[in-house]
Amino acid sequence: MRQTLIAGNWKMYKTPSEARRWFHDLIAAKPEGQAEAALMVAYPLLPGAREVLEGHGVSWGAQDVSAHLEGAYTGEVSVKMLADLACRYTVVGHSERRSYHGESDALVAEKIRRLLEYDITPILCVGEPLEVREAGNHVSYTLKQLEGSLAGIAPQSADRLVVAYEPVWAIGTGKTATPADAQAMHKEIRTWLAGRFDLGFANQVRILYGGSVKPENAAALFGQPDIDGGLVGGASLKLDDYVALLNTV
Ligand code: G3P
Repeated sequence: MRQTLIAGNWKMYKTPSEARRWFHDLIAAKPEGQAEAALMVAYPLLPGAREVLEGHGVSWGAQDVSAHLEGAYTGEVSVKMLADLACRYTVVGHSERRSYHGESDALVAEKIRRLLEYDITPILCVGEPLEVREAGNHVSYTLKQLEGSLAGIAPQSADRLVVAYEPVWAIGTGKTATPADAQAMHKEIRTWLAGRFDLGFANQVRILYGGSVKPENAAALFGQPDIDGGLVGGASLKLDDYVALLNTV
């Protein structure tokens, strides 16, 4: 049975001081759900995440990583630095990086390779833009991203890979995919994983849904057989909403 993962993607919000207070408040809120909690925060917030959250059953991680191990790469952050901060997960291939920074599937694959070298679990984002969905090409588009982003990569075990299906048209728009549409795509992703790796691996990999997840729609989404939790933006910034999401399951 796959444990539900509710991963907050804070994007570029909160200062290190605000984050520390939020982390303390989350611990004090004592969520009673069965879901795993993880917070993907901006780089400056990671030391505070480790300091406050370590030992309290909440994981943390970054929202990107350099494809280089170290060197003269101004402004980049290496996987060695993330490992030193005890990051358990790191988001890679988010649509905002693919579009704003021109990240290719090949670059995403390099980043995944680096993370696996340092035992950090990638949360690989895939998902189609609106025009692709409207043309009915969302399955082939998303699976092509998956194939390119995992080219030449074989995670040692299923807990070393999380996939997040994030239809771009649902991100930050309030237009959540219907549970049926999301489930259909998650099933396609799991079937593809079974063919690329094997059925056992595919059945253990967690596939998260991302795109306007809110406490009001989470139960219907997470109740789908191939939706194993969420990669949550806006709703993860509000403590009450994030606790409500954790208590959904
Ligand atoms: O990575 C998760 C994010 O893209 C979803 O954002 O605000 O639609 O939950 P939001």
